[in-house]
Amino acid sequence: MAIADQTLHELVSLERGEVDRSIYSDPDIYEQEMKEIFGRSWLFLCHETQIPKRGDFVEAPMGRDNVLVVRQRDGSIKALLNTCAHRGNAVCRADEGNAKNFMCTYHGWTYDIAGNLVGVPGQKELYHDELDMSAHGLRGVAQLDTYKGFVFATSDPSAPPLAEFLGRTGRAGLDMIACQGDMEVIPGVQKFVIPCNWKFAVDNLFDWYHPQITHLSAMSLDMFANQAMPESKRVDIDGVATQEGAQLRLPGGPAGGDNVDELVFVDIFGHALAGPTRDTYVGVTGSDSWRDSEQAREALGPVARRAAGHTNIFPTLWINPAGGQISLRVPRGPFETEIWWYSFVPREAPPEHRALVLAMANHVFGPAGLLEQEDGENWNQSTMTTTGLASRRIPHVLKMNLGRGKVVNDVDSMDPPYIECGINEHGQLWTYAAWAQWMSGCSWDELRERTIPPAVL
Ligand code: FES
Ligand SMILES: [Fe+2]
Repeated sequence: MAIADQTLHELVSLERGEVDRSIYSDPDIYEQEMKEIFGRSWLFLCHETQIPKRGDFVEAPMGRDNVLVVRQRDGSIKALLNTCAHRGNAVCRADEGNAKNFMCTYHGWTYDIAGNLVGVPGQKELYHDELDMSAHGLRGVAQLDTYKGFVFATSDPSAPPLAEFLGRTGRAGLDMIACQGDMEVIPGVQKFVIPCNWKFAVDNLFDWYHPQITHLSAMSLDMFANQAMPESKRVDIDGVATQEGAQLRLPGGPAGGDNVDELVFVDIFGHALAGPTRDTYVGVTGSDSWRDSEQAREALGPVARRAAGHTNIFPTLWINPAGGQISLRVPRGPFETEIWWYSFVPREAPPEHRALVLAMANHVFGPAGLLEQEDGENWNQSTMTTTGLASRRIPHVLKMNLGRGKVVNDVDSMDPPYIECGINEHGQLWTYAAWAQWMSGCSWDELRERTIPPAVL
């Protein structure tokens, strides 16, 4: 049953800074998300460096569909629905690999890497050569495109071009990875499950209020202090030994204070970035010198070069430039989210830098990452309390610095619309306001218009 516009407006109030808990648990809302958000949005599939050779493939989720992203003979990339045209079985069960063709394990229909049906057992004897094999290939996605090596697809033929969809915030987020060198994905995507609603795993990336409490135990272990790390890890991004080394610094001052120490980008379609400036945050690799490179100057405006927080490309692509990582938060039901982490290094990176990125990828986020285990406990509890008969009636409160976020939006600038503010909850609130617009099922023109940031958040 579709949720009415009026109801959606009541579920998320930009004015009051309140969000109704049912958005995290209602099965009808989850169904509508699959259709209106994951059925229309451009979704990240992989990075080109994961499939360099002909026949290389990865499987990627698009809502409840799974697609095989396959490097073609001519070097192009196709995304094919991983479902056999005969009776629907998956034609590939591997997460990634190299294939000459895909043979369905049910009855043996076989497809080439372009998705053409090239083999049907019994085509002559059983189908009497009457089965039109050209009509039963694997189906492709509606649109596929890349931005600086990041491969995206959408199931909506009427979706705007990828570059427009990404907007200034989405492009800046991807540029913050792309500008760090000739980047490649370290083989192996970390995948694990957290029993929570996917939106908690998304909105937390804007939450700079929680680390001082949630991650107290991680910080008490000094896990980000250089001296806690092995000698071999004491390098910055250029491989130069440094006493500063790996560290995590958080926005200073009392949470929610008026001191300007956080930048927030809010863009059309719900993309956002929030977090400290580079003056207050160094990040886990200990250096952000790439921000001063020619490449970064060309790709990022002056404000974006100061931003050191996390970007979310709506709905589920989290970009963490300080750690050289990106993450997908993959919904698998209202109460289950798969977390996928991709780690990047410059091809030319010395072994020490590669080792540092791997060490941090294993120990910060991911299935063995201390921070994400601490976060996951919170997301799980917050999800479960949305189902209590009494507790689900209590709205979530996202009022920090509400009404104090003046949005600077110079459409002629490279910089996305942004706010300079103390720690705030604008990123979360803006994401939910955009979420409500997506959920209304309005047209792309209406969606674009309704997700232009207001003058003040
Ligand atoms: S379902 Fe694939 S061959 Fe029958
Ligand atoms: Fe956290």
